[in-house]
Amino acid sequence: MKNLVDILDLSVEEIDRLIEVAADMVASPEKYSEICRGKILATLFFEPSTRTRLSFTSAMMSLGGSVLGFEQAGSTSVTKGETVADTIRMVAAYSDIISMRHPYEGAPIVASTVSRVPIINAGDGGHFHPTQTLTDLFSIKNKLGRLNNLTVGLCGDLKYGRTVHSLISAMARYEGVRFVLISPAELALPDYIKEEFLRGHDFVECESLEEAIPELDILYMTRIQGERFADRDEYERLKDSYILTRDKLGTAKETLSVMHPLPRVNEIDVDVDDDPRAHYFDQAEGGRYIRMALILMLLDSGRGIDSRLHGEPDKTLSCSNPHCITMTERGIKKRFIGDRCAYCDQKAKKREV
Ligand code: NCD
Repeated sequence: MKNLVDILDLSVEEIDRLIEVAADMVASPEKYSEICRGKILATLFFEPSTRTRLSFTSAMMSLGGSVLGFEQAGSTSVTKGETVADTIRMVAAYSDIISMRHPYEGAPIVASTVSRVPIINAGDGGHFHPTQTLTDLFSIKNKLGRLNNLTVGLCGDLKYGRTVHSLISAMARYEGVRFVLISPAELALPDYIKEEFLRGHDFVECESLEEAIPELDILYMTRIQGERFADRDEYERLKDSYILTRDKLGTAKETLSVMHPLPRVNEIDVDVDDDPRAHYFDQAEGGRYIRMALILMLLDSGRGIDSRLHGEPDKTLSCSNPHCITMTERGIKKRFIGDRCAYCDQKAKKREV
């Protein structure tokens, strides 16, 4: 594997291996502290971030490497109209590995087709967030001891929540995992995620957190993603749809793991933080080690442009997603997998002639 654009770029065995290496890094950090000496990680954040960017920086520093990059597109040549492809070509000449976050869905795919160095998707719009999923899986393994035979409740913004999309696609590969999708109807899991990853899997959709709680092994709370709403009034109406309180945990299993990719707004009351089932801060801490393991794995995989272009060109189709990278990137080769855009996975529409 050369790039991590989608969590499914990693096999289950590779994920097991990353978790094993990350656990060893926690136990014996000194063994790894010089292993990336002379290597440079570029962190390109075209969208705000705290944990993801800092944990990548901390991860590379803990491996003895160096870091360069930016945390706002506003200070870069993007404001002059530079494409993602051109920015990446340049940065690949100045670094050994790139982690990038971009508001447009599919941007890391564009990057991976022109970069000589590995590309890590650190979040693309409301699409995917594979390194958060690695962090989540590491936490689940540490807290519950297994990744199979679990009832996983995902609560909040399942429509725009990219961490949810990647976590579902990863966990659907394990035996005996059942999903309880808790959201208002307006923020339900998109059809493309259900069709691609949940077909034939055990899942239910519901609106009541209280009703779902007793059966869960994991409760994965999420922030309502205000920045992705086209309609501000709708956001105001939905933003406090779910608030987890100590009271609501009263009917939950003793062994429940309460998770959250963070940042939290109102969806978990601060009173819950002292509950032994509140695992979200430990979860974030693990992000440093699993990213260390990932950086090592990708640097070992060698250089070279990933020529594997997904999908086929089809002049009769166009993507229907206004947040797809194909809407803004000049010179892009539009491609489709069946009737889906190969960049953002959303349904394509017939082009009007
Ligand atoms: C998440 C993200 O950026 O998608 N944060 C993170 O990376 N830990 C979740 C969020 O912003 O709500």
